[in-house]
Amino acid sequence: MSKLYEETTARFSKYVMPTYAPQKMFVKGEGARLWDDEGAEFLDFAAGISVCNVGHCNPRVTAAIREQAGKLVHISNLYYNELMPRLAEKLVTEAFDGKVFFANSGAEANEGMIKFARKYGNAHGGRNVIISMENSFHGRTLATLAATGRAKYRKGFEPDTPGFLQVPFNDIAALKAAITPQVCAIMLEPVQGEGGILPADPDYLKQVRALCDEKDVLLLFDEVQCGMGRIGTRFAFQSFGVIPDAFSMAKAIANGLPMGGFMVRKPFADTLTAGTHASTFGGTPLVSAAALAVQECFDKDGVLENCREQGAYLMKRLAALSKPYAFVKGVRGMGLMIGLVLDRPAGPLAAALLKKNLIVLTAGETVLRLLPPLVITRQEADLAVERIAGALAEFQA
Ligand SMILES: Cc1ncc(COP(=O)(O)O)c(C=O)c1O
Repeated sequence: MSKLYEETTARFSKYVMPTYAPQKMFVKGEGARLWDDEGAEFLDFAAGISVCNVGHCNPRVTAAIREQAGKLVHISNLYYNELMPRLAEKLVTEAFDGKVFFANSGAEANEGMIKFARKYGNAHGGRNVIISMENSFHGRTLATLAATGRAKYRKGFEPDTPGFLQVPFNDIAALKAAITPQVCAIMLEPVQGEGGILPADPDYLKQVRALCDEKDVLLLFDEVQCGMGRIGTRFAFQSFGVIPDAFSMAKAIANGLPMGGFMVRKPFADTLTAGTHASTFGGTPLVSAAALAVQECFDKDGVLENCREQGAYLMKRLAALSKPYAFVKGVRGMGLMIGLVLDRPAGPLAAALLKKNLIVLTAGETVLRLLPPLVITRQEADLAVERIAGALAEFQA
């Protein structure tokens, strides 16, 4: 244990609120590799929870941040900065005809999207109830907690923010039954992340879209975790062929600098008007420069193609592990958003893998979650499978 580690953990426990319980410390990153305080090298199959999608310290992103940091970091949104509308233009061009609002995190992006839906619904028939999905995760602010379909996150923070109800995911009959004249929007993750890497059934999403059209209800996608290339298309909705009325993004949008946002399609894009919503740091020049560099990586570096290729390869190799190990129930996911489903809690396996210098996450209770940078090589995928197989063999024994 290094002196730096000892000093850091001591400071952390004395001065930082105990909402996190970190296990390790990292001091350097490059691509899909991280180095700890003692210089040991780790393979990062979490990417900071789907944040560093184009790799740690990606050269394009680092250069953009360096250049912009020397020019202009922040002015308020009372003035124009060149980069934020450029970024909005790029995202709209890649997604659909609409407009973007920039914030700082996933919860804040979803919070804004919820405000958009309520503003629209209240103005169109006094409707303001939002239906979201059981097992979903939308953030830790009070409204996004109320949208989150896992009650454990709300415990202790009562009263719940009103205006939300949840139905089972991938169940069109339950959704139809829940639609009342008070409903203004349906909100869902195209691939549930925290809940256990559960993709929506494409037919279900098409039926949800049709239902929304029939009832004049807005369709909101939370793409905070599954967007930004994670499942092999720039935006998650593009993998399903279903266009939402609005979708949120965050995490990987600026590859580690704090940014979130949501896009609303025409004809709803001007619902939030001057003075109805704001964020001091939303779309600051520095963060917008990083986000533009991320888009450039998607355009020039084959990131999405690599995600699809390595994702398919990893899924195939991991699926083979369910044969020798009966406690491995299967593999599911899309692109490089992959869950290895166990018949028992996944936490101990994740801890064993950390000891083998492979960083992974868990999701739900029994799913080992893999969210590597989208730039991983075949060799890195093989190395990860080797370490996972090694840990599974130890568990078997
Ligand atoms: C689908 C989804 N929505 C929202 C959030 C909240 O994002 P943030 O932690 O940036 O507020 C997360 C975070 O994990 C998420 O996975």
